[in-house]
Amino acid sequence: MTKIAVLIGSLRKDSINRKFAAGLEKLAAGRMDFVHADLASLPHYNDDLWENIPASVTELKAAIEAADAVLIVTPEYSRSYPGVLKDAIDWGTRPWGKNSWGGKPVAITGASPGAIGTAIAQHHLRTSMVAVGTAVMGAPELYYTYKPEHFGADGEITDEATRTFLEAWLGSFADWIGKTGK
Ligand SMILES: Cc1cc2nc3c(=O)[nH]c(=O)nc-3n(C[C@H](O)[C@H](O)[C@H](O)COP(=O)(O)O)c2cc1C
Repeated sequence: MTKIAVLIGSLRKDSINRKFAAGLEKLAAGRMDFVHADLASLPHYNDDLWENIPASVTELKAAIEAADAVLIVTPEYSRSYPGVLKDAIDWGTRPWGKNSWGGKPVAITGASPGAIGTAIAQHHLRTSMVAVGTAVMGAPELYYTYKPEHFGADGEITDEATRTFLEAWLGSFADWIGKTGK
């Protein structure tokens, strides 16, 4: 089973990105094991905190390092990606020489109620993930426009066309991990 560390860029409990990630998790069941990183207790990046390392930082770095790949599901905030993800990226790169991201296969997606999905957020995030040395899947891209009617009572994605598209995308991610993972 491929182990996927999942980072969600929204902290709110009714997040559509959390719901979307849960729908992807159900579609990937049996092939991918999703392990959710806790970003809610992550402090802003501050070099001084290495003197007394917050548990949330140690746990995040361990989760990235233990995973075969990382899936980031992000909302778009002010035409970019949320600050909590930026902190997660920055903590992952440090301390110097101990970059948890190096060489890790990564896929990026996101959900928005808006028509252009999360395209600009994902574009910014892709640039950052390349800069920290991950192997980011460039294509196929996945900009999901959230529709409540796509989901069933248990959070599974019931809309047939959406399921087909997402299954193909997950298949591409699995292929990407096979090509670029260790
Ligand atoms: C601070 C803030 C900025 C936002 N900026 C954008 C934006 O630039 N583009 C967009 O499509 N939606 C934007 N939205 C709307 C979000 O797409 C919407 O709130 C979405 O539900 C957030 O994701 P979540 O449900 O996973 O928390 C913004 C929302 C917030 C709270």
